[in-house]
Amino acid sequence: MLASILARLNFAEWADTLPEITHSAWDNFYQECAMNGDSSLPTTIVATFHGEVVGSVSLEVIDDIDKFPHYTPWISGLVVARDYRNKGIASQLMQNASRFAVEMGYSKVFLWTYEQETMYQRLGWSVIHRIPFKGRGAVIMVLDLEG
Ligand SMILES: CC(C)(COP(=O)(O)OP(=O)(O)OC[C@H]1O[C@@H](n2cnc3c(N)ncnc32)[C@H](O)[C@@H]1OP(=O)(O)O)[C@@H](O)C(=O)NCCC(=O)NCCS
Repeated sequence: MLASILARLNFAEWADTLPEITHSAWDNFYQECAMNGDSSLPTTIVATFHGEVVGSVSLEVIDDIDKFPHYTPWISGLVVARDYRNKGIASQLMQNASRFAVEMGYSKVFLWTYEQETMYQRLGWSVIHRIPFKGRGAVIMVLDLEG
């Protein structure tokens, strides 16, 4: 149930940008995260408001940018439902994901983005690479969890 809500939220947001990720691929991913819970990766952190799912972010060992297999873990799939944006929910999700990575013993965490470089910089992340990815310019960023 939760997996299908998260799949719907992400598919609606990413279908234009990442059309190769089908609704059922999202659904399978979130079912795997639900099974893992907080014991292994991939896992998902969910934001709720009055019982409604309003956002999520995931932490996974590898991401779909396969150029950097030595980087792990990755924060991915940050999304907040449109009606709940600009309230600090994404910032809170990112903090919780970072805290979770620390608890799992990681000293760095990575992400890639097309458009949200400024937001991540505000949250303490640094740019380490700029690369073309699927026909657009992507930014690879790192957060030093010991810094
Ligand atoms: C990007 C996205 C996740 C941001 O979610 P959000 O919950 O609105 O993010 P936040 O509220 O934490 O931060 C957004 C802005 O609100 C401001 N803000 C933070 N807390 C706030 C609060 N309590 N009240 C009002 N504004 C607040 C922040 O300063 C920030 O401003 P900035 O854009 O000038 O830096 C959301 O717009 C989204 O889902 N977009 C589509 C998917 C996407 O692009 N995901 C990222 C992929 S890399």
